[in-house]
Amino acid sequence: MLNHLFLHRLMPAVTFNREEEVLPVTEAILQGGLNVMEVTFRTGIACKAIEMIRNQFPEMQVGAGTLLSTEQIDLALNAGAFFGVAPGLNSSIVKYAAEKSFPFIPGIITSSELESALTMGCRVLKLFPCDLAGGTSLIKALQAPYAHTGVKFIPMGGIHLSNLREYTDLDVVLAAGGSWIAPNEVIEQKRFDQIRENVKRSIAITGV
Ligand code: 3PG
Repeated sequence: MLNHLFLHRLMPAVTFNREEEVLPVTEAILQGGLNVMEVTFRTGIACKAIEMIRNQFPEMQVGAGTLLSTEQIDLALNAGAFFGVAPGLNSSIVKYAAEKSFPFIPGIITSSELESALTMGCRVLKLFPCDLAGGTSLIKALQAPYAHTGVKFIPMGGIHLSNLREYTDLDVVLAAGGSWIAPNEVIEQKRFDQIRENVKRSIAITGV
């Protein structure tokens, strides 16, 4: 289920502060050629944003990010999110998402957390904060003992146009994610053309 979402191996993470931003940002991402995005639950309008996207752009496979509680899993599901993402690994949240058949990507950064996540049945893991923790060197180190388990990573945190290629060159990376495609200041300044351009440039870099 999760693998087919990331054909372009990219996942923009977007934080909305105003409802009026939601549709133009989503439209710019779609026009750039990407039909997947994560809306972070860091602001009060995250649920509303997901609902608006589902209504207006049904082709966008919108996920919910920064899910820190089982209540937020329910909110994300009710809003129509296709999948959920978290920065960390919380067994009660992972279990709850599984009970609800909600595709869920928890975050890890160490080998012990990776093993716990595998035990919980997760095979797609966010690596956060990836660049700070070692970037592609970290991924290569984790890949050696664990690639044969079938685990795939979505590195996030500190990825941008100039280091994206290093990440997506690695087969174990399912997708690279982050805020570089639609950063807060670009959204605030309503530079939606820039968002479309960032998507296009990112797709050109990943080469798929
Ligand atoms: C996340 O939630 O994954 C991060 O906020 C993304 O990190 P970035 O802003 O450095 O891309």
